[in-house]
Amino acid sequence: MSSETTPDDASGTYSLVVVSNRLPVDKVVAADGSESWRASPGGLVTALEPVMRESDGAWVGWAGVAGDHSEPFENDGISIVPVSLSAEDVEFYYEGFSNDTLWPLYHDVIAPPTYHRDWWDSYLIVNQRFADAAAAVAAQGATVWVQDYQLQLVPKMLRESRPDLVIGFFNHIPFPAYGIFSQLPWRTQIVEGLLGADVIGFQRVADAGNFSRAVRRLTGYTTKGATIEVPIEDEAEVQGNPLRAKVSRRGHQVRTVTARAFPISIDAASFEELAHRPEIQARAREIRQELGDPEIVMLGVDRLDYTKGIGHRLKAYGELLAEGKISVADASLVQVASPSRERVQTYMTLRDEIELTVGRINGDFSTISHTAISYLHQGRPRDEMVALYLAADIMLVTALRDGMNLVAKEYVATRFDNDGVLVLSEFAGAADELKAALLVNPHDIEGLKEAILRAMQMPRHERSRRMRSLRKRVKEHDVARWSKSFLDALADQTLAQSSADAAAAADESASESANGGDEQS
Ligand code: F6P
Repeated sequence: MSSETTPDDASGTYSLVVVSNRLPVDKVVAADGSESWRASPGGLVTALEPVMRESDGAWVGWAGVAGDHSEPFENDGISIVPVSLSAEDVEFYYEGFSNDTLWPLYHDVIAPPTYHRDWWDSYLIVNQRFADAAAAVAAQGATVWVQDYQLQLVPKMLRESRPDLVIGFFNHIPFPAYGIFSQLPWRTQIVEGLLGADVIGFQRVADAGNFSRAVRRLTGYTTKGATIEVPIEDEAEVQGNPLRAKVSRRGHQVRTVTARAFPISIDAASFEELAHRPEIQARAREIRQELGDPEIVMLGVDRLDYTKGIGHRLKAYGELLAEGKISVADASLVQVASPSRERVQTYMTLRDEIELTVGRINGDFSTISHTAISYLHQGRPRDEMVALYLAADIMLVTALRDGMNLVAKEYVATRFDNDGVLVLSEFAGAADELKAALLVNPHDIEGLKEAILRAMQMPRHERSRRMRSLRKRVKEHDVARWSKSFLDALADQTLAQSSADAAAAADESASESANGGDEQS
């Protein structure tokens, strides 16, 4: 599939374009300098793959390696359009503004955000690069779906260059309360950037509410429920797509933007399918044996990130051991902490703290036959993750703030045996849906300890009742449903505006005829 543009038609050929910081494939450079592409099969890819193939889709994003200048290519029926980032872009735009300014700010300042003007400058430049790359490949009237906090300026940039496009944005992480968001020196530009979209999706109802409040405070635009009226200032926007414009009750020319919750999910069926495989079940049994057959296996699976509450979890477990309420033969903890953003200082400090704590707990409580915490600072393949989920009696998700937390949903999807207990932080987006979990406030260490003990003692019938209810939710609300509901909302939004305007145009022409208008050609 070609993505060439012609001089008199500044558009490409793709009718659906997904734009995200990372591509669904990573470039891998081996020690000998040889290069290859490795699929990074996240939930988003699984969800969008069928839609992308059906609707002639292209994926615009970064290959994950600084200085890479790969040409567009086809991967598994999807056109991949790499955007290149220099070493300085990676440092300023990705590690700096995205992950040391926005990430801590949007996660309720658990770590202090850093504000640097040159990081912001880089964010602007790189967002423009992504917007240009998407604009170059999108067909006339195409749908462009922009993903996540790294690219919040892209919707407005796209609307400016390509008013014909239908633009969606989905924020995978929380959107903070205005009292926190207002710290950001570039808060108005961010809000204006997002408002370039037709539909803005958030994980939780509370996130969408926080965004609408920020819009009212910073721009004074009218918001009603999920609808925001954005004044049209640039006539070109109307000329590019006259159907988008309507007149507000105050007599201004506006376009409407929808901002509401679309909680993301996982490909539940594929996790369940893996869980049914005999070799994966055998591996789950083997894991328990390798752990010394403890009574209870507890599991934590996270990127090594300060938002995940790993330290709080370790503290609760360590205190239960110290107080003699449990022993390592009763309950062993497996903590998978996959390496993340390792050149950002806060992440380096976190790693030191977590590994010190793990070392202390293991030193104090492990025996020759039982290790208190089996700590894995490594990403693990999906098969191994499913085996771990099957092996775990208790899954600990104790995030201090999390957009959704898909690990909680993966655990539930895997447990076709209707067993296992999910201990889930009320500060993870998943808590809005997974109400049958044992919900905890991870800051309350005593409460967390009680929840762990309760999970350990929970009778089979209660575990089963809770797990059935959790599984019903996750299986019915899978990632395919999520992407469909977002794309449907995007289609409805443009349709509603089109028909409102078609009706207005019909009224207008009827009144012109009634007035004897003779301008028809
Ligand atoms: O959802 C949050 C997010 O930052 C995604 O955008 C990203 O793909 C994932 O977490 C992993 O982060 P990173 O791309 O920084 O490794």
